[in-house]
Order: sequence, then structure tokens, then C-alpha cells
Amino acid sequence: MQTKQISLLILGDKFITMSETAKIELEGKIYELPVIVGSENEKAIDISKLRDLTGYVTLDTGYKNTGATKSAITFLDGEEGILHYRGYPIEQLAEKASFIEVAYLLIYGDLPTQQELDDFEASIKKHTLVHEDMKQFFEAYPAQAHPMGVLSSMISSLSTFYPESLDPNRSQEKKNLTVHRLIAKLPTLAAWAYKNSMRHPFMYPRNEFDYCKNFLYMMFAMPTEDYKVDPVIVDALNKLLILHADHEQNCSTSTVRIVGSSQANLYSTVSAGISALWGPLHGGANQEVIEMLEQIHNDGGNVDKWVAKAKDKEDPFRLMGFGHRVYKNFDPRAKIIKKACDDVLEKLGVDDPLLDIAKKLEKVALEDEYFKARNLYPNVDFYSGIIYKAIGIPTEMFTVMFALGRLPGWIAQWKEMTENKEPIGRPRQIYVGKTSRDYVEISKR
Ligand code: SDX
Repeated sequence: MQTKQISLLILGDKFITMSETAKIELEGKIYELPVIVGSENEKAIDISKLRDLTGYVTLDTGYKNTGATKSAITFLDGEEGILHYRGYPIEQLAEKASFIEVAYLLIYGDLPTQQELDDFEASIKKHTLVHEDMKQFFEAYPAQAHPMGVLSSMISSLSTFYPESLDPNRSQEKKNLTVHRLIAKLPTLAAWAYKNSMRHPFMYPRNEFDYCKNFLYMMFAMPTEDYKVDPVIVDALNKLLILHADHEQNCSTSTVRIVGSSQANLYSTVSAGISALWGPLHGGANQEVIEMLEQIHNDGGNVDKWVAKAKDKEDPFRLMGFGHRVYKNFDPRAKIIKKACDDVLEKLGVDDPLLDIAKKLEKVALEDEYFKARNLYPNVDFYSGIIYKAIGIPTEMFTVMFALGRLPGWIAQWKEMTENKEPIGRPRQIYVGKTSRDYVEISKR
């Protein structure tokens, strides 16, 4: 490969050095494509001109080798198990920051000063209420409605109450108002989806509480009694939401980017992200993990049997909470959550047999050749359900908790995409269907 200094590309405050080219030979001709190197030395061949140059497109089903964008928000190294938000290691943020502080960091690019954080929190608190007319929507849902279905509909419905949000050219100030409304109202709508499923009275937000305490209050308080929020639970929730806040171009974030790239309003864009997250291979895995652990527990706790099922190609069973598209080492979030599991269960005096099964399952799998050969490690969803269960979150609300955490990441990624004026997303394909043929009258088919 020929290496020569081509030019410097500036993205935000990052310099992307165009230092090499990649040569490909097609039908006897040699083409040179630029190579870009990111600020953490990730390398990519820029194929944005490939079709114009060669008439060829690339094919990469599931985008396992394809970068969709250049981003300055989150960096992860799947081999080393590294995860940084705007350069800050996730371990430090989970230990020292508040979720709202991390939301500010992801969306606006730097940790806020005290004044900036106070202003951000004050603005969010102004919008925690939901239009009273929306309460009627909840009454139409059956009690067994899955809260993710309720939430994605409610979030999209917010766009009908704020028609100005439909204008793609609205001012920065108006865009910010939509961002703050979303962060403020998602917890209220999520808690009300749960209250509705229980046919319990809705609890209105209490703005004297911080974000996590307010959510727990709306989830579990009843008008007939005083609700005391355990600081251990508030701290665990704060940590869990931080760990879920962003994760590069995962399935739901890529959905947000592509829906937002059509200039759809942010409420509908986030609603699409919620729908993508719901899938059991993505954010829905945390609910599947607990149901899997309960299944193994009820089956007598025979971990070896279930690991064998996960390895059997004829058996559709997969070890939920294991494996990851990018992490080929421990998911750093899983490590933090596993430790938090021990702390929270001990502080709450909870002895959950599912935690013992999860640890045994992890040990057996990590020693098994099938999992080692495929670099399958516990991911963020493997232990999170055990903490959610310990702090009283019902299983069907687990993926809603993931959405609460991921919201600032979706917003940050949407904001970066719109501010960089990225084009509408429209991938190519290779057609493999029938070639041209004439219509045949039905009587002659
Ligand atoms: C999240 O992308 C993100 O960043 C996502 C996320 C985020 O923060 O946004 O991190 C959150 O979605 C975490 C992942 C949650 N999902 C699960 O826990 C579901 C179980 N895991 C898998 O379905 C799977 O591992 C995926 C979906 C996570 C990743 O799938 P890939 O990258 O497409 O890999 P693959 O399906 O091609 O699997 C490669 C091999 C296959 O075996 P072979 O065909 O090579 O013989 O590994 C096997 C798979 O059968 N395999 C598993 C397995 N996961 C992969 N075998 C058993 N159990 C599993 N869990």
C-alpha cells in the first residue's frame, strides 16, 4: 500500500489525518481510495466515491464492517473492553457523575459547570408534566400492553402536541426545547405506562426530587401513603442509566440516525429508536435474560444443560445477555453492573438465587470452547435485570429502563448528524431477483 500525506480533515475539534490510501484492482484497473484515521487510531477506507469511480458498490449485510459516520461522541474498543463518552472512561462516570450530568456531556460535548448543570436541570424540571389529554390515551391500552409499545406510541404522539417541532428549520433554541421536553417527559410517560398496567392512579412528577428519585417516586408511590426512596436504589439506578446512555452506532442509534436523516421530527425519530431497542437481540435482551434465568432456576438450575442447548445449532435457544457485535472481550458495563449487583443485593439484604445461577452460567460459558472460540462474553444485559429486579422494577419494564438510559445518546447522535448536515441515509443493494419478464394473463399462468 502506497502511503502519502494527502490532507488533514477537521471534524469538530478532532483532526482526522488522511495519511494513506487503499488500492483496489477491478477489471484490470487500479483505483486509489482515501484512508482516514480517527482520533483513537481506528482506520477506514473512505468509499464515498467508489461507485462514481468504479461502478461497484460494497455489500456488508448487518454492517459488521461498515462505518456509517464519523462521530465524536462515544468510543469503544471491543478487543480491549474500553468505553468512553466524549473521552471520559465509563468507569469514572459511573462512579462519580449523575445521569443528568452525563446526558449534558453526551449532548453538548463537555461536562457542565455547576451553573450549566443547574440551568439544564431547571429547564428539564419545567417540562416533566405531560399534556392532560394524553392521559386518555393510556386508558385505551389493555392492562397487559407491553410498556415499550405504549412508550413508543406516546413519544411519537408528543409531536402532535408540539407541531412546531415538525419544522426541520426551527431555531437552535426551539430544538433545545424539544430535547429538554423529551428528557423531562420520558420518565413521566414510562412511569405512567407502568401505573396504567397496574390500574393504579398516576403519580405526578415532584420537581424537588432529582431525575432518578423522581422516576422511582412516579413508579412506586401511592397517593395513600408516604413513599420513602432508598438512596441505595437511587444510586443503583443512576449508575445503570449512565451505563446505558450511549454506545456508538448500535441498532437503535442507527435507527435514530437514519429516521432523523429524513428530517422527521425528533419525537418520531426517538420513537423509532424505542421500537428498535425493543427487539430481544438488542435492548429487549435484559428482559429475556431474567426470563431465561427463571427458566433455568425452575428447571432445577442445571446450567450445563442450558449451555449445551445454547451451543446446539438445532436448538433455537441462545444464551441471552451473552455475545456482542463489537465486544470480543468483557463488556466493561457488564463488569461494573456485576459488581454493583453484589453491592446492591447485599445492602438491600436480597438473596436472589438468579444471581447465583447467572454467576454459574457465566463461569461455565467462559470456560467452554464454543464460547471462547466465538469471543462470547456477558454483555450489558446479562446482570442488569438482576439489579432492576432487586430495586423492584417489574421485568416488562426492563427495556423501558434501557430506553430511559439511552435517550441522551440517541439525542446526541441525532444532534451530531443534523449539525453535520449529513445526507439522508439511503443504502444501496445487490439485486438477485428475477430478470425482466412480460406480464402473463391470469388465464395463461
Ligand atoms: C445490546 O450493538 C450494541 O452496542 C448493542 C448494545 C448497546 O448498548 O446498544 O450493547 C446493547 O444489544 C447487547 C446485546 C444484547 N443481546 C443479547 O444478549 C442476545 C444474545 N446475543 C446474540 O444474539 C448475539 O450475540 C448478538 C445479537 C448480540 C450479536 O450477534 P452477531 O454479532 O450478529 O453475531 P452472530 O449472531 O453472527 O454470532 C456469531 C456466532 C454464531 O455462531 P456460528 O454461526 O459462528 O457458529 O456466535 C454465536 C452465533 O450462533 N452466538 C451465540 C450467542 N451469540 C452469538 N451462541 C449462543 N448464545 C449467544 N448468546
